[in-house]
Amino acid sequence: QIGGTLAHLIGTKELVNEVVLFDVANGIAKGKALDIAQSSSVDGFNVKFSGTDKYEDIKNYDVIIITAGVPRKPGMSRDDLVGINLKIIKQVAEGIKKNSPDAFIICITNPLDVMAQVALEETQFPRERVIGMAGVLDTARYRSFIALELDVSIEDIQALVLGGHGDTMVPLASYTSVSGIPLSQLLSQDRIDALIERTRKGGGEIVSHLKTGSAYYAPAAAAVQMAEAIVKNKRRILPCAAWLQGEYGMRDLYLGVPCMLGENGIERVIEVELDGEERAALESSAEHVRSTVAALKSL
Ligand code: 2OP
Repeated sequence: QIGGTLAHLIGTKELVNEVVLFDVANGIAKGKALDIAQSSSVDGFNVKFSGTDKYEDIKNYDVIIITAGVPRKPGMSRDDLVGINLKIIKQVAEGIKKNSPDAFIICITNPLDVMAQVALEETQFPRERVIGMAGVLDTARYRSFIALELDVSIEDIQALVLGGHGDTMVPLASYTSVSGIPLSQLLSQDRIDALIERTRKGGGEIVSHLKTGSAYYAPAAAAVQMAEAIVKNKRRILPCAAWLQGEYGMRDLYLGVPCMLGENGIERVIEVELDGEERAALESSAEHVRSTVAALKSL
């Protein structure tokens, strides 16, 4: 459900002039495009929507957000999707490379860090143009749990979640504040630990309620924020899954790190200082991503 939600959100924000929904399942993209276009006459946004199941119809677009693939069901981890989504992402990447060779790609498909790597390898696009969406979502979940706990406005919570998009993600309490006030002055360590644990399992919590799929409102909102930073050259600092080339002492893997997003995609990866425990948690998250990549390569 992320694709339709994305298209609707992009429309209401009038972020671009034209949105194409693509789905291999005949008719779904067309139906959703019509529905959203009709909502635009009520809400008054001027964006052209169309739906297609043909790769030729995604010619020379600027930003492509990949949501294709199967979501998890209760009891599954994101890594359980690696085999089935690998084939889908390979096909999608080929279609993008052929038809929109200059596009920026924002990948949402799980397991996120690994599927972003597949998209990078298949398209051979530069790393600045193949970005994984996870850190904005994970940080959004962490921020929302903090706001609920403190009963304060979500607008005042600044935070940072690094690492892979899975249970090993690394919410950084040391980079979390409420209007500049360090979180440690407002909550006990026990409560902070509990919120961090809930954040790590945040996607699974929603899957366990929905039963038939995974979250879509927050993932779509997160990807739109990234797309907006690129389209409007905002130079925002957002946590994204980036292909590391020596940053954080790591190379040749996707991992969630703070990035500056602007008109060239990832303008810069920002290296923040980490204490011993935080660094160990990031290393262990990276190790988890590497092991999922190894499992994929042996398929
Ligand atoms: C999530 O965490 C879809 O992976 C996404 O909800």
